[in-house]
Amino acid sequence: MAYVEGSLYGAAQSCETEAVTDSDDLASRLARTAEQLRALFEDGSPAVLRGAGPLFETAEVFEWIKRAHPQARASTSLAKIHALKRGWGLDVDELPSAGEARDPGRPAEMYRGGAMLLEPAPFLPRPDHASFADWVRETHAALGGEFGMQAPGLECACFDALDRLQALLGPTLALTGPRTYRYNAFVGDYRRTPFGFHVDPHQEAVFQYVVEGRRQVSFWEGLILQDRDADWVEDANGLVRPRTEPEHRFELEPGDIVFWPGTHVHGFAPEGPSMALSMVIDRACPRSRAEVVAALEVETMGGQAALPPPNGDEDHDFVTRGTTLRRRSSFPIAYARWEDALIIGVCGRTFEWPERASIAAAIELFDGLNERERVVVDELVEATTLFEDDLLELLTMFTGLGWLRRV
Ligand SMILES: [Fe+2]
Repeated sequence: MAYVEGSLYGAAQSCETEAVTDSDDLASRLARTAEQLRALFEDGSPAVLRGAGPLFETAEVFEWIKRAHPQARASTSLAKIHALKRGWGLDVDELPSAGEARDPGRPAEMYRGGAMLLEPAPFLPRPDHASFADWVRETHAALGGEFGMQAPGLECACFDALDRLQALLGPTLALTGPRTYRYNAFVGDYRRTPFGFHVDPHQEAVFQYVVEGRRQVSFWEGLILQDRDADWVEDANGLVRPRTEPEHRFELEPGDIVFWPGTHVHGFAPEGPSMALSMVIDRACPRSRAEVVAALEVETMGGQAALPPPNGDEDHDFVTRGTTLRRRSSFPIAYARWEDALIIGVCGRTFEWPERASIAAAIELFDGLNERERVVVDELVEATTLFEDDLLELLTMFTGLGWLRRV
């Protein structure tokens, strides 16, 4: 699927503030778009949602950047001076304002000619920059040419920003389970991605909304790259041409959303001053694996108790067709997504589902088992899409763990 028609609101629709923020239209547009983004994610290959906007406008995103990345925060020198004085027991009147300040998680970064500026603070937008265009013009002059900027964590700017991010990513997050997610704005007047064609293996999925300016994007499947591709991938100087043509190339305009999974090498070529707002879902789960496992162990025991060993008081025969089983534990089978894995809890113990392709079938099976008191094995074999041998092995294990017993 390469192109998906968006809403009735084409890219030609006006981008006035009230069109974006002051109507129920926005809420329904966000909800409809969110379902379309989920479908793109499930499909799994780079694709464009045409004319999804207006969802964000240049002036408000520019304002979010100013709030999330004020010049004062970008400099750590004052904090270092204060820390030094406090370390020597000197009075420091001004305490760090940790309670009030917004924390976007990562600082803004700026690029000029393929190189990152060591200190972007003097070039960040200030309140006195009346418009995005003014700031681009001034910064272009100050840096002596085309430049790029990456501004992550804009959801901390205000609750309206956070609301829209959560509305758009909600259905996709329901599929992935809890993940770290964020906005990342890309702005400037650079002609191509300042850090080269690159891959972000720590990302699960990116949906990029084009706010301002036309841009072209190219994608290469990263899983089939070879060692010799290292010459051009991440070549920020752009000295080495890609070895192969991209598998996907899209022309984008304001109001479009382009999706790509973290497996794909990508790079952008914007025209003139541009602003794009990425909505990123990282692979990292905010909970540790140990926390997920501990929660599943508690949930499937209704607390905690000493456990008999697996196969503690049953015969160890393999469960076969023709068998009827009865549920033994009053607590359900529980499961949770953790990063790429599905972790399953049964009677205080956990295991990991062995492969990704059958996770949906496994979840369906567990939900079905939780609703039954009796399990007629032959019926279950017919009802599931799992391989019969895998199902029988699973039922044997559940019996050994004390969740089922033979009738
Ligand atoms: Fe990227």
